[in-house]
Amino acid sequence: MNKKLRKACIAGNWKMNKNRAEAKALIAEMTPLVKDAGCDVVICVPYTNLETALEATKGTNIKVGAQNCHWEASGAFTAEISAGMLSEMGVPYVIIGHSERRQYFGETDVTVNKRVRAALDAGLTVILCVGELLEQREQGVTEEICAMQTRIALGGVGKEELARIIIAYEPVWAIGTGKTATAAQANEVNHFIRTVVEKLYGQSAADAMTIQYGGSMNAANAEELLDQADVDGGLIGGASLKAADFAAIIKAASR
Ligand code: 13P
Repeated sequence: MNKKLRKACIAGNWKMNKNRAEAKALIAEMTPLVKDAGCDVVICVPYTNLETALEATKGTNIKVGAQNCHWEASGAFTAEISAGMLSEMGVPYVIIGHSERRQYFGETDVTVNKRVRAALDAGLTVILCVGELLEQREQGVTEEICAMQTRIALGGVGKEELARIIIAYEPVWAIGTGKTATAAQANEVNHFIRTVVEKLYGQSAADAMTIQYGGSMNAANAEELLDQADVDGGLIGGASLKAADFAAIIKAASR
């Protein structure tokens, strides 16, 4: 983290976990543990918990996000939710392009770009996920993949809008596997992604961009990862479902 240049942000991605009662209980448990955070704190909950989470986090430093949104404002898109629907509810954040959407639900770089564009137009802050598969790392194309995903996702995004973009580097092989990227690996790719942003928007924009790492980040390894100059926070899956673990990561990001 380099807090002189940019904001640190720890975001929980709850994925498809927690019913309404469980969500309420988890937020109540984490609120006092994270109230003095020296970083931004976000929880991205299932759609069915958005209202509960907005209510339960009122007056706290915890911000709420969704895990996806559609690019059209409305229409015949069964089961989709528009960016405008989220902003109308008062939801400030949305994850776009998570690898689970890319892997299991046919998300492409082009649809990621459309969703990013729609989310920005609706006034949301986007957590944009990029990252390579294991085979791609083994073939030595990690940088090409991350550059391509980043460049396409940011197509049509203006420099002044970058303040509402957070990039999350999530190597797919590290997600939910317990295999964390080493701190050096995370920093190397985060730094590389910053150079991609620099080529597109210039150095000051790249310096100011918050780039998280995600993939088996937990209470035990957070400090080492967050000590890296280009790791500006984390997108946390499993460990965000336990208040004490999530709070420990936030503490590591608050130093
Ligand atoms: P885990 O922390 O469970 O590996 O998940 C990471 C992730 O996908 C966050 O979006």
